[in-house]
Amino acid sequence: MTPLSGKRILLVIGGGIAAYKTLDLIRRLRERGARVRAAMTGAAAEFVTPLSVASLTGDRVYDNLFSLTDEAEMGHIELSRDADLVVVAPATADLLAKLAHGHANDLASTLLLATDKKVLAAPAMNLRMWLNPATQRNVATLRADGVLIVGPNDGDMACGEYGPGRMAEPMEIVAAITSALERDTTIALPPGIGARPAGANGALAGKRVVVTSGPTYEPIDPVRYIANRSSGKQGHAIARAAAAAGADVALISGPVNLPDPSGVRTQHVETAQDMLSAVNAALPADIFVATAAVADWRMAEAGAAKIKKGNGGAPTLHLVENPDILATIARRNDNRPKLVIGFAAETNDVLEHAKKKLATKGCDMIVANDVSPSTGIMGGDTNTIHIVTRGGIDSWPTLDKDEVARRLVARLAEELAAG
Ligand code: C5P
Repeated sequence: MTPLSGKRILLVIGGGIAAYKTLDLIRRLRERGARVRAAMTGAAAEFVTPLSVASLTGDRVYDNLFSLTDEAEMGHIELSRDADLVVVAPATADLLAKLAHGHANDLASTLLLATDKKVLAAPAMNLRMWLNPATQRNVATLRADGVLIVGPNDGDMACGEYGPGRMAEPMEIVAAITSALERDTTIALPPGIGARPAGANGALAGKRVVVTSGPTYEPIDPVRYIANRSSGKQGHAIARAAAAAGADVALISGPVNLPDPSGVRTQHVETAQDMLSAVNAALPADIFVATAAVADWRMAEAGAAKIKKGNGGAPTLHLVENPDILATIARRNDNRPKLVIGFAAETNDVLEHAKKKLATKGCDMIVANDVSPSTGIMGGDTNTIHIVTRGGIDSWPTLDKDEVARRLVARLAEELAAG
């Protein structure tokens, strides 16, 4: 066993005189137990024959993007992914430029653009070409993009000059490949990208979900208002996750700095009273999730004009309690959603308060979390929650708010299915 045993290398051979050394590289890799698949540019075939390459790899050589047989046997996407590492040797100035600029006009450049694995390039070219600012720029771009570079070395060049530009020796490339393979070579997609929305087949297909999110703003006068620090991240994530699970989602959002989630009907409101009207109008629904941090109080009468200072000291604000949206919906006689879920953001005795809230609000579940300033949860990207139901308490580890949303939606779908 060697570190290369069973490793799959996709070798892209560029058109340069150093291609003859690539034949030796293939031998060295195969001796060490690696499987090598080779793709050649048109120019590469001028320097070494595809037959030599095929004999050494023990596999056919891939050289034509549009070959129907290739697409039938193995498409270029699959070819580019069916490897642990992509190695470009020799990496000509032209191939480096194509890769740095994202060209895809032949099989080699297309494979390099489509791959989900790290690329290791062994540049080889005349020293003037290597030192040309354009090549240096391209190499800097590629390094910044995470492309690994081995060589080039100084030495005599086939063209009679001396300097940097000789391709690294086969054993130096083997060493670079071995060290690259010590780490994970898969290039991950950004979170949330690449996962197909569950849509019509999802766990909440055909269900209606209403979610409130964000703070409410309660006007004091035309320029001032009472608000809180809710960012809306958790509520918006729940709306997104429910839509991804196939639900028809209405999101009633207070003022937030977040984009409207795609695939969700979003209605913007400011005050608690408007939020309640919007929720009522969005019924009937199977599930109601009250994530919003609704202001508990509003002005008994908001000033029609800006309240002025200097009128005999600070004004007294006469507040009245806002309607409790969660309790109102949970206690509806008609059109009560089958599942009504509240959130409990507390700074102390989280579970005690949550259990009490479950009873007083008449809802089916309280998602409780500690929002003391030290937790960073308010406005942050993670959440540590406890699911409190009449059946018991389920405490989850600290999770990204998107992951909390996905798990919560999965749990709600289960509860709905269980009736
Ligand atoms: O009573 P408290 O504000 O702690 O309850 C929090 C839960 O109640 C949250 O789910 C919140 O969305 C909901 N709530 C509401 N209307 C209010 C106050 C809270 O829907 N006026």
